[in-house]
Amino acid sequence: MALKLEAGTKLVAATHNPGKVPEIAALLEGRFEIITAGQLGLPEPEETESTFVGNALLKARHAADLSGLPALADDSGLSVTALAGAPGIFSARWAGPTKDFAMAMKKVEERLEETASDDRSAWFTSALAVAWPHGPAVVVEGRVDGSLVFPGRGTRGFGYDPIFIPEGHDTTFGEMEPTAKDAMSHRARAFAKLKAALFD
Ligand code: IMP
Repeated sequence: MALKLEAGTKLVAATHNPGKVPEIAALLEGRFEIITAGQLGLPEPEETESTFVGNALLKARHAADLSGLPALADDSGLSVTALAGAPGIFSARWAGPTKDFAMAMKKVEERLEETASDDRSAWFTSALAVAWPHGPAVVVEGRVDGSLVFPGRGTRGFGYDPIFIPEGHDTTFGEMEPTAKDAMSHRARAFAKLKAALFD
């Protein structure tokens, strides 16, 4: 059986972050009726897996099984080569409960200094999973490679954007027009794969 999502399907976005909904709806070109896990009052599962793919699947399955509707979840983060892939799945957690990304970026810089490595390469990953209630799931991953710069530059974007320069460019994600970032980001690449897998 081919796993396809028909246009107009009600889809649960397994996020409690209302800010992500317009982004998800835009990336899905308004094809679905998006309802969030937060709106449905679903509890947030603990992210107990050790990979982006594992956590995206866990969140999508949890929301699908509890709601009885297909659900979409994402998990993303920054991985630094010289830090053996850290912060990775802990990217949000490095910013602490107050989501202090100035502190998280400082931590990346300090950890790098401790390694004495001059390798500043890094990459962003986005894993996206769609799960059907008590049924199958599809998961894809998008990645963008680049290098880190300190101090960070630019006030656009979010999270670790100010310290990340994508390969082939000389501006950080924090300095770029949002449309330029969206054209090449890990999230856009993952969504392109998801669309190819589920909608075409
Ligand atoms: P989550 O996927 O909502 O768990 O968050 C992952 C964390 O990774 C975010 O809080 C950001 O810190 C970081 N992250 C993921 N994608 C991006 C991005 O495009 N720019 C900057 N930081 C990102």
